[in-house]
Amino acid sequence: MIDNRPYTFNVALPGGIPNRFELHTRRTLKSMHGQYLDIEAYNDKLSKEDTLLYEVYELSRPEVAGELIHGISIVHPGLVGNEYFMTKGHFHTVLDTAEIYYVLQGNGKMVLETLQGDWAIEELTPGKMLYVPPKWAHRSVNTSLEHDLITLFAYPGNAGHDYGTIETQGFRKLILIENGEPVIVDNPRWQEPAQREVDL
Ligand SMILES: [Fe+2]
Repeated sequence: MIDNRPYTFNVALPGGIPNRFELHTRRTLKSMHGQYLDIEAYNDKLSKEDTLLYEVYELSRPEVAGELIHGISIVHPGLVGNEYFMTKGHFHTVLDTAEIYYVLQGNGKMVLETLQGDWAIEELTPGKMLYVPPKWAHRSVNTSLEHDLITLFAYPGNAGHDYGTIETQGFRKLILIENGEPVIVDNPRWQEPAQREVDL
């Protein structure tokens, strides 16, 4: 039953778990097959434990254009080889839909990319608001090794999630740790637009 009365909810910090949600998604290492650069480190880590990488608490709304699906994303700290814990990353199924993020806690980067191969990386620090325009795939990366990266998000109810495109082509840029600091590197396995069977 959808609640069509106005409502508020609280997001207590630290922790970031909202006191109201309908959906709790937990993504573990095994859902990131092929996404981390260091395949050996990934397989080695997975053979020991299917570590929890990130969680999403969602306040569900009808999947229609006039609604806003919203909630809290929590990316936990850690590394796979030299690469930080991160979300799968996705395009919206309806490409012409945007999204906003507001950073509540932690430090990280949003890695963004279009189907044409344009890319951007935005800093995520507490108090920062990020606007993801339509047609940009997005992935949150937690660049702290100690603290959760906690963001509030909202996107149109009809947007949907296309994870498959990123699973196949990867992101053009990766965020690795080097001498204790995050660095942006080219993804050697990234598929250039010319190699893809998509209508650009
Ligand atoms: Fe999104």
